[in-house]
Amino acid sequence: MKRIFFILGMLVLSGAAYGQGNRLNKDSLKYDGLALTPPMGWNSWNKFACDVDENLIRETADAMVATGLRDAGYIYINIDDCWHGQRDSLGFIQPDPTRFPSGMKALADYIHSKGLKFGIYSDAGWETCGGRPGSRGYEFQDAQTYASWNVDYLKYDWCNTEGLNAEGAYMTIGAALKDAGRPVVLSICEWGSDEPWKWGPKVGHLWRTTGDIYNCFDCVEDHGTWNSWGVLQIWDKQEGLRQYAGPDHWNDPDMMEVGNGMAVNEDRAHFSMWSMIAAPLIAGNDLRNMSKETIDILTNKEVIALNQDKLGIQGFKHQSQNDMEIWFKPLDGGEWAVMFLNRSQSPQKIEFNWAVQ
Ligand code: GLA
Repeated sequence: MKRIFFILGMLVLSGAAYGQGNRLNKDSLKYDGLALTPPMGWNSWNKFACDVDENLIRETADAMVATGLRDAGYIYINIDDCWHGQRDSLGFIQPDPTRFPSGMKALADYIHSKGLKFGIYSDAGWETCGGRPGSRGYEFQDAQTYASWNVDYLKYDWCNTEGLNAEGAYMTIGAALKDAGRPVVLSICEWGSDEPWKWGPKVGHLWRTTGDIYNCFDCVEDHGTWNSWGVLQIWDKQEGLRQYAGPDHWNDPDMMEVGNGMAVNEDRAHFSMWSMIAAPLIAGNDLRNMSKETIDILTNKEVIALNQDKLGIQGFKHQSQNDMEIWFKPLDGGEWAVMFLNRSQSPQKIEFNWAVQ
């Protein structure tokens, strides 16, 4: 009897804490409630790296609408590294004048006119990973600038941060965004080095759990001083992290490579895997040139629905044998999603007794 009472008591307490988390709260370290389900959108890096300009971004916004991705839930158009020019004499960051001659406010207005939201990228260090000006020492000024451009989402990277404390650095940019007054989703990109799942929820809406993804299903790409990782390698690195994610605070296994050249069944598996672990669904391909298969995968309503389920509970591995994995994800209303994942390169047979699970 005592024990039952104790459990009930715990439920009441935790219910109260979660209830508060969903409200916009000026005392919170982040804008609460902006990512109650995993963010969905597009980011330029996986396909275009530093080759970004305003035409690409406008055409991508057009394609997001024309291909049905917006209506399937993809809302953010995020420019990654290399949009930057220099700081002006007062320290205000400017976009690259050749690549973004119309300026960021005009681009944001265009994106907003399409019913989409606008994301941008910076870095906690002196320079971004691509060698552009970072936000170190300019956090509050940059946050003011982003607010004046109507930015909705900030991916904040971790290159050139020697000697900085990660939690502190992300709290600084979080405070700066709050101070600037425009609600912004904060995407923490410090590759999982300092266990961001432990401190990330209070300051950001999602945090990268690993180094960069590479466009292959099962490989490691050696860049000399660092590696990037195939879909399966990233997948295996998510082990033990599901307890840290939930509404408004997500594990981020990196942007997707769907449509960038893997086999169609690998792309399909990749999309299902990201959906099962409630990962942000950020497309990383060229939306202007997609095969029908790519569009079908990215707009699969049922798979998106399980990713966007309002409980926000990451799936878990129920069984693993040879190269087969069986995953479950609890859904709102007592339903379950089930995934059978064949990790190998050849077809496999599996028997599954639905009755006794
Ligand atoms: C890091 C990030 C990537 C991308 C690049 C840009 O590697 O992890 O996602 O933003 O920087 O230079």
